[in-house]
Amino acid sequence: SAADKGAYPFYMLKEVDEQPAVMRKLVQKYFKDDQPQLDEKLLQDMADADHIYIVGAGTSYHAGLIGARMFERLTKTPTTVHISSEFAYEQPLLSNKPFFIFLSQSGETADSREVLVHVNEHHWPSLTITNVDKSTLSREATYTLLLYAGPEIAVASTKAYTAQIAVEAILAKALGEFKQIPEAQDFALKQQLGIVANGMQAITDSKDKIESLAAHYLSKPRNAFYIGRGIDWSVSLEAALKLKEISYVQAEGFASGELKHGTIALIEKNTPVIGIVTQDRTAGLTRSNLEETEARGANTLTIAARHLAKEDDTIVIPDVDPLLTPLLSVLPAQLLAYYTSLGKGLDVDKPRNLAKSVTVQ
Ligand code: G6P
Repeated sequence: SAADKGAYPFYMLKEVDEQPAVMRKLVQKYFKDDQPQLDEKLLQDMADADHIYIVGAGTSYHAGLIGARMFERLTKTPTTVHISSEFAYEQPLLSNKPFFIFLSQSGETADSREVLVHVNEHHWPSLTITNVDKSTLSREATYTLLLYAGPEIAVASTKAYTAQIAVEAILAKALGEFKQIPEAQDFALKQQLGIVANGMQAITDSKDKIESLAAHYLSKPRNAFYIGRGIDWSVSLEAALKLKEISYVQAEGFASGELKHGTIALIEKNTPVIGIVTQDRTAGLTRSNLEETEARGANTLTIAARHLAKEDDTIVIPDVDPLLTPLLSVLPAQLLAYYTSLGKGLDVDKPRNLAKSVTVQ
């Protein structure tokens, strides 16, 4: 069945490898010719909104951070992202016409549902983006978009994160087209998702290299950093979470320009600092922040986009539209976490203290 491990030692590796196929599946499910086909009522409700609120927990929250950038860029709708357990009990002042997007792989996270119950009391329109059809959050929201990622068994989420980002991109493109926003009209998303699928394949084909990097740099240290700016910072949060949850390395994802305001004090000899470098405007800045940590003894590594690559970059990823780089830059981080955990002999799929779906608040 789809939930079989087959020849894989752990589900997580299988699920990492499935990501190119999930991208292709999403193109097949959501596009007709070159245009995304979504429910017109959904698009009208979103176009009527003056603010989009994205709500999620864990990896889904991190996928929301990427989506917010897309909604603002492609649809010109102010968008904010909220941790569901915070939003439920410390609700921010809302706009007049809010629209809510719930991101949840399982569709069952109690903290997120708590927010949705409140949203429904106010009859605000909502959309759940989930991997599980007819899950609680799907049934209770106004609209649902499915991730079509197939069952995700490993506790550490991988293919659901990239599927969430891809579905957010599809929705942002469709809404931007609906609102006749030039940035959306010019965004060749279908073609880009094909490039993404091939790029993911190229990265998953370089497992041996990533395994030896994990053994060399991450097997011993107790702590590590992922750093970046803008969208690369958002990915660094997810990259650090992967490392923490399955390899028990205390990892932090950090805005690279903010390091010097305190956190750089933590850098010691051989502290791994991994820079994510995919954006033209910030590449040089992140590189100099990496050098600052190196001068204090860090072992620096880079995950850099091809067109920005320098000779000594550690991992070079294929080029793609600047809004879609997270779909590629996160893969080396997923694999680094996987091989660090594997190398330590840990149960990659079932890390201590964690559950796949958290139905308590
Ligand atoms: C748990 C899982 C995480 C997941 C989070 C949110 O903590 O271990 O991997 O990101 O719940 O789950 P959801 O199903 O709402 O995306």
